[in-house]
Amino acid sequence: MQVNGAWQPTIVAFCCNWCSYAGADLTGTNRLAYPANVKIIRIPCSCRLNPLFILRAFGRGADGVILCGCHPGDCHYTTGNYYARRRMTLLFSMLDFLGIERERTRVEWVSAAEGAKFAAVMNDFVRQITVLGENKRLEDFRCK
Ligand code: FES
Repeated sequence: MQVNGAWQPTIVAFCCNWCSYAGADLTGTNRLAYPANVKIIRIPCSCRLNPLFILRAFGRGADGVILCGCHPGDCHYTTGNYYARRRMTLLFSMLDFLGIERERTRVEWVSAAEGAKFAAVMNDFVRQITVLGENKRLEDFRCK
């Protein structure tokens, strides 16, 4: 994404409805800031995230993708985030195989009461992706 001629990373954040999305909401309520590069997609639970969504996000131009869910043991659906954690572990090895830097994907547990943590995580992730630069892999799939 170009802003005033300078490259800015595009970040897709999948947030579970019950904790992380509420945490993002709290960030705004507390008047804390996180970069506008972060595009939040609300999902019912972190286990709803099919790893193919992440590959598709990369294919469509995302430079970084982050999954945020309830802390282990706090999932609204009891065990959803345990499934998500296992899936993401498998995805990380697949990303290695595809040549996509592992640092472009992250998993964070953010509760509804952690607005400050949400802002800190997003600021840190955007900084990390800015250092990594533009994601060139899977560029062939992008619609231009
Ligand atoms: Fe938040 Fe399952 S409801 S991770």
